[in-house]
Amino acid sequence: MLATLVAALGLAGSASAQAFPDHTIITNISPIMMGRIDPIIDPGKVGAHVHTVLGASNFRSELNTPQEMLNAQCTTAAVTADKSNYWTPTLYYMHDNGTYEAMSPFNTRIYYFTTNETNMNPFPPGLRIVAGTAMSRDLSDVRMRGVELHCGDKPDLFHPWLPNGTTHPNGCNDLHVGIRFPSCGLANGALDSENHFDHMTWPVESLDYGPEGPKYNPNGPLCPPSHPIKYPTIFLQAFYKFEEKHGRPWRAGKNNVVFSNGDMLGPSFHGDFVNGWDPTVLTNFVKQCNTPNGAQDKPQNCPAWAPSFNQEASRQCAYQGMLPAEDIGLYRAINELPGCNPLWPADGPVQRERCSKPDPGFAGPNRFIGIGNERRIPVYLPNAGNYTEML
Ligand SMILES: *[C@@H]1O[C@H](CO)[C@@H](O)[C@H](O)[C@H]1NC(C)=O
Ligand SMILES: *[C@@H]1O[C@H](CO)[C@@H](O)[C@H](O)[C@H]1NC(C)=O
Ligand SMILES: *[C@@H]1O[C@H](CO)[C@@H](O)[C@H](O)[C@H]1NC(C)=O
Ligand SMILES: *[C@@H]1O[C@H](CO)[C@@H](O)[C@H](O)[C@H]1NC(C)=O
Repeated sequence: MLATLVAALGLAGSASAQAFPDHTIITNISPIMMGRIDPIIDPGKVGAHVHTVLGASNFRSELNTPQEMLNAQCTTAAVTADKSNYWTPTLYYMHDNGTYEAMSPFNTRIYYFTTNETNMNPFPPGLRIVAGTAMSRDLSDVRMRGVELHCGDKPDLFHPWLPNGTTHPNGCNDLHVGIRFPSCGLANGALDSENHFDHMTWPVESLDYGPEGPKYNPNGPLCPPSHPIKYPTIFLQAFYKFEEKHGRPWRAGKNNVVFSNGDMLGPSFHGDFVNGWDPTVLTNFVKQCNTPNGAQDKPQNCPAWAPSFNQEASRQCAYQGMLPAEDIGLYRAINELPGCNPLWPADGPVQRERCSKPDPGFAGPNRFIGIGNERRIPVYLPNAGNYTEML
């Protein structure tokens, strides 16, 4: 079992890096919370769909200031100088009887690629980066270039498609759900923009565009003149298994998974990042662990990160905030995806309209659900007093 796990992780590393030290990975980062919160897209409100959130403990529906982020009690990142938050739509398992269960990854890794040796800059405090489009599956939209899904146990390339009964008749026992973030920023260091994308863009293959415009290379070293400031490229990758013993077998010939926004196809997967790094540590990181001095999957070997490396502190870290007062399906299967997120099948429309349902409001957690043996996720279960079996 352990050998299989190690082999799977090794494969994931080599698939994106060819063992060239152009990256350092925050390994084994686990969720701090799961729920309908999105301080970039829906500040101050219950968000549109459930997110799996990593990082700082004081995540909340309002955007924290850079100083507030630094003041978080703790983070689920083993490099504790990283008080950033990272969030993506939650993956749901679809049971045979039509119910949904939130899946927690058995591992998540955050890669920091530092591919340009001469132009590599720390993120400014409070920088927001959004990769992908939650309401659109338009493959020609450049914003969705970072969606990288694949099956680690099959000869499979990175693509924006969730595995399904047609593409993976024999299953996908090692689903890798990845999102790469744009890494070229404006010269004025803008922290955000109207659509939350335009203050950033992807690196380009060359500065010599033809009439068809730039050719993007999402993990490349070269930024276009419109967005000349190169930052590290964040690549977040979560690993899931389908196992009979956990009541989530691969059901042959069926759609087994759906994202929390209803997308059964995959291209609307997306990721959000808010920079909460200790500025000195991040500045030292881009100097000391820049290509070719990336520490790869040993973040403690990066001199800038070593002093704050503390796996135990990251495991102990507990969420400080409130939750939408609803069952997200982590404890048991639910009848529909939280919020207004009807299934969005493969043959559905390219764009989805936002709809709404009564707002559940916020409450403090009333249960903690174990995921793996390391972490307990806070949840709010309506009428929790009825669920005597959980006490
Ligand atoms: C649906 O199936 C799941 C998984 O077997 C089970 O936990 C749940 O109780 C079932 N729900 C209903 C309404 O049958
Ligand atoms: C790194 O960025 C600089 C400044 O934009 C650029 O001149 C250089 O070509 C880039 N390096 C590579 C390998 O693309
Ligand atoms: C399965 O996924 C492929 C894309 O990889 C898609 O073209 C097809 O429509 C999907 N089928 C179903 C039933 O969702
Ligand atoms: C569960 O609890 C709520 C509020 O405490 C109560 O109104 C409801 O009747 C209970 N349901 C059952 C099945 O006991």
